[in-house]
Amino acid sequence: MKDKYGREIDYLRISITDRCNLRCIYCMPEDGICQVSHKEILTYDEIQRICSCITTLGIKKIKLTGGEPLTRKNCSTLVRMLKELPEIEKVTLTTNGMLLKEQIQELAEAGIDNINISLDTVDKAKFEKITRRKGLFKVLEGLEEALKYPNIGLKINCVPVVEEPENLVAVAKLAKEYPIHVRFIEMMPIGYGKEFLFRGESEICEILEKAYGRMTPISMRYGNGPCHYYEISGFLGKIGFISAMTHKFCDQCNRVRMTAEGYLKACLQYQTGISLKDLIRNGCTDEELTQAMKKVIWEKPVGHHFTSGNIEEDEMKLMSQIGG
Ligand code: GTP
Ligand code: 5AD
Ligand code: SF4
Repeated sequence: MKDKYGREIDYLRISITDRCNLRCIYCMPEDGICQVSHKEILTYDEIQRICSCITTLGIKKIKLTGGEPLTRKNCSTLVRMLKELPEIEKVTLTTNGMLLKEQIQELAEAGIDNINISLDTVDKAKFEKITRRKGLFKVLEGLEEALKYPNIGLKINCVPVVEEPENLVAVAKLAKEYPIHVRFIEMMPIGYGKEFLFRGESEICEILEKAYGRMTPISMRYGNGPCHYYEISGFLGKIGFISAMTHKFCDQCNRVRMTAEGYLKACLQYQTGISLKDLIRNGCTDEELTQAMKKVIWEKPVGHHFTSGNIEEDEMKLMSQIGG
């Protein structure tokens, strides 16, 4: 369906857990967050019911995120349940890759369409500094294993927190050597992200062009998100940018999101939405659930105002709770 600004909303991002096995410095505090108890988190049956109802409003693509989605038991079961919904065209996953090697086979069998792996550096010491955990080898092993499934589209998400240009050049090299797209994401001032400066798209392009030669913008979109892409001669994959700060894309936004606790949120920034969990656990009908979601989508805010510097504390949640 369209929202009141005429944007076609067909993409739902679902955070299935706020837990994570890493502690990225721009996302979580060192000791982790106060975790929500199991009974406060939507069950897979509840998620499937919500998704089934929301497809009648035109949602066709679903992204599973976290926290780290693969830390929740049997994530592939949910993938299978969502793939069973006839109107759903794509079910995709954004993961930090730590548990991917063990789970890729069951995810593939469940029918996952695309997987995005968050990887900000390929340097072991820097990885441990950013994530406050060991495990770069696990992520790389997960990536290697995932490359054995050519039907699953793979992308790397890199938030450039490391200062050295060589780091960006090294991460981009993954797109040179493998048929995967590497996307650079401008840090958004959400939660702990507020404590970091963002590195903008033009600066990164300059660094990469120096190392690899001319980057040619292409109109092709790979996926459902706001990323735009460039190609570089000799590269197997593309280089993408998600530039929420320098190239605000809210006018083309196609998504709503749901937290692990079942709060349907119309915009990354604003706390506008409704608790679907409360509705469901108070015995609402499918029709009532659908109408409540319709209202949230219709009233989706016009966009974020990250660059205004005027960000109310209570409007914000941590990225690990919203799911990016
Ligand atoms: P695909 O391109 O289909 O793979 O999806 P995606 O790029 O939407 O998914 P992913 O989960 O990999 O998100 C990548 C980055 O985009 C994350 O940093 C998200 O926070 C950011 N992002 C996703 N949706 C939005 C949005 O609505 N607004 C803004 N500003 N950023 C978003
Ligand atoms: N700004 C931009 N991207 C972020 N991510 C986490 N926090 C931020 C932020 N403040 C990224 C993660 C992951 C994706 C889901 O969101 O690195 O790749
Ligand atoms: Fe975990 Fe992702 Fe947050 Fe890192 S950015 S702590 S991997 S949820």
